[in-house]
Amino acid sequence: MCGIVGYIGHRPCIQIVFDGLKKMEYRGYDSAGIAVLDNGQIALSKESGKIDNLKPSIAKLPQGATVGIGHTRWATHGLPTRENAHPHEAEHLALIHNGIIENYKELKLELINQGIHFRSETDTEVIAHLVSLELKRTPKPIEALQKVIKRLEGAFSVAFIVDSIPDQIFVAKQGSPLVIGLGDKEVFFGSDITAFVNYTQKAIFLQDGDIAMVKADGITLWDKTGKEFTPKITHVQWSPGSADKQGFRHYMLKEIHEQPRVVSATTQALVKDNKLDPTALGLDKIDLKKIKSVHIVACGTAYYAGMLAKYFMEPLLGLSVNVELASEFRYRDPFFFPNGETLLMAISQSGETADTLACVKHAKDKGCQIFSICNVAYSSIHRESHGSLLMFAGPEIGVASTKAFTSQVLCAYLWTLGAAQQLGRVPTVELDAALQDLKTLPLYLDQALNAEESIIELASKLYQYPNFLFIGRGMSSVIALEGALKLKEISYIHAEGYAAGELKHGPIALVDKQIPIVAIAPHDRYYEKTLSNVEEICAREGQVYGIGDDKDQRLKEICVQVIPCPSVKNPVFQAILSTVGVQFLAYHIAVKRGTDVDQPRNLAKSVTVE
Ligand code: M6R
Repeated sequence: MCGIVGYIGHRPCIQIVFDGLKKMEYRGYDSAGIAVLDNGQIALSKESGKIDNLKPSIAKLPQGATVGIGHTRWATHGLPTRENAHPHEAEHLALIHNGIIENYKELKLELINQGIHFRSETDTEVIAHLVSLELKRTPKPIEALQKVIKRLEGAFSVAFIVDSIPDQIFVAKQGSPLVIGLGDKEVFFGSDITAFVNYTQKAIFLQDGDIAMVKADGITLWDKTGKEFTPKITHVQWSPGSADKQGFRHYMLKEIHEQPRVVSATTQALVKDNKLDPTALGLDKIDLKKIKSVHIVACGTAYYAGMLAKYFMEPLLGLSVNVELASEFRYRDPFFFPNGETLLMAISQSGETADTLACVKHAKDKGCQIFSICNVAYSSIHRESHGSLLMFAGPEIGVASTKAFTSQVLCAYLWTLGAAQQLGRVPTVELDAALQDLKTLPLYLDQALNAEESIIELASKLYQYPNFLFIGRGMSSVIALEGALKLKEISYIHAEGYAAGELKHGPIALVDKQIPIVAIAPHDRYYEKTLSNVEEICAREGQVYGIGDDKDQRLKEICVQVIPCPSVKNPVFQAILSTVGVQFLAYHIAVKRGTDVDQPRNLAKSVTVE
């Protein structure tokens, strides 16, 4: 995790690096630091806690400096203290690092035996000292970096400045993301493009093993074999401002409200002349006819998107679909049909989640076809895949995933419809009906968003309860899981999600007046069954809050309150609509409890470590 940024150019760099760090804050936020290079001297400011804590000390840095690096940390080795915050210094240099150095203990011992004094508990400081020692042997920092990198095991992206080299920054990437942004006589870099997209949309996505010498008027790159190469420059689509709050109190709130737009953008990109576009769906990159089974791997909310996908994928493709947590899948011995007959589908907003990436690499080695649904172009998972569908969600900054979930579900659904069509498994009328319903989904999402006022009121009644239960059947059972995850991660309230039919196998013992139960009960094929489960709860004096059609008298009678959610025929779109209610509920409860909604404790947006 952690976010790194850097700037070299003609402008004073401190504010640019600071702003870049604020954009990277989603990656970790327990301490931060900035180092600048000015007049042959490195000046440094670092603090524990949020990036804003840096404000007083960066005011004391040389304000005219035009070369700077910055880091926001998600602690892996050592507490989130000032001493452990990056940049880390060694003789003549300051260095930042994202990732984990697995063999740092051996290296540290070796350095201590050479008389090196360590000021932090981090693995990063080892790299700083190793580079500094190499610089005593060679005047060429790139050579020093190449040598040091060969000794490091693990995943990392690093950047450093050297006091005697006023016009260069040195960077390397191995396993953790690093993107360079090219401006006019200025160069930026960051863990992702949001670090600099407000300044330039010209980006170079470094590959594993790449190292670069960054100067204001350009960069020089070497690949993992040490060969210099000319990089491919990508014009990124994300526009300036797309990573800002745009007047909303939190990113999460903005992102919940963006969902109708995400659906429209997805439709626009994937449906041409009322037909699914197989190329835009990435279907041309996969040999569908070969596939005998599908594994979907993902983590957290993306895993729930995968669970939902199973509901439509199995009947539409006529294949068995296994959905599994990437952290489990990667360490077991799953069965794969040989020669591309198994499709592994990875779902990941960031495209960098370490466990999901490990599954992709493993399955690829075993000869599976790899397809991914990611939000971040050129992310590691995107690049490792044979075929991919890039989501149209735009940057998601809030740690709690909202619009990305909707986008993942929708992309998986449209991909499946497209695949089913190619396999001749979906009648044209069914397909046309789905595409017709898709057109109206943004309008229904707008209606679902209108429930916010009533949810704010409900949140103010419920926010002090210590436990919650979410229930539903069919796809709504997955929304129940997602609702519980959303609530616990941003409000720190204990919450469980259960398939309503499972209640009587245990969780019904929890039911009393003290545990609000949220029942997701749309008018679908499970409706009667769900209502019976709600009745069973009411018979035990449980208090149930429904998410469903507010014209549904039966639901209204048995629930304390119903969060209104429009009813639609298409079960996938219904699931997307129901999700808005659980997102808002979690958000407004968290706001009432005064938690840090966008950056909840202990979490980071992109989980690039195991
Ligand atoms: O970037 P990814 O989609 O791979 O991330 C997966 C999970 O870490 C992520 O969905 C996480 O569970 C969210 N914080 C949930 O809101």
